[in-house]
Amino acid sequence: MKISSNLKKALNDQTALEANASNTYLAMASWCEITGYEGSAAFFYVQAEEERQHMLKFVHYLNDMGVSATIPGTKSPASNFKSLELIIKTALNNERTVTKAIHKIVEITQKEKDHSTYAFLEWFVNEQVEEEKKFETILQKFDLIGRDKLAINEIDKILNGMSATPSDIGSA
Ligand SMILES: [Fe+2]
Ligand SMILES: [Fe+2]
Repeated sequence: MKISSNLKKALNDQTALEANASNTYLAMASWCEITGYEGSAAFFYVQAEEERQHMLKFVHYLNDMGVSATIPGTKSPASNFKSLELIIKTALNNERTVTKAIHKIVEITQKEKDHSTYAFLEWFVNEQVEEEKKFETILQKFDLIGRDKLAINEIDKILNGMSATPSDIGSA
């Protein structure tokens, strides 16, 4: 079985996107930790780990298909943030970008009739629905609970609860 050079490039680009997402969440976790948002820090450390697992799925898939994966260099992520709400907004935007990128690769597989890669990407299509829903739900909390110190503390606790049940980690 072979994948086209076009798909090889797209999958390697996605590997880099997942690696950057992992680093971005790591920077967010670190900022939350030093800011005193312990629950949010725990949550984002888990997100960083999940994105690393996503990256590894692409690496393994490329290698399994006999085209060696290119291990990407990563950009330095932003490390200074204005608020927890802005972090969640940024995370949601990142996830939307990733969703679009995944959908683009799916379209290539359809055009090229590459059923193996199409099937491989199905997990990511579903995962992105969950990822966007997760951050949209958290973002809603700011409208529902508030933005004062007590409200943020409450939202931090909710994020702590979400960090205890990593959605799909280890199912790689
Ligand atoms: Fe991801
Ligand atoms: Fe994600």
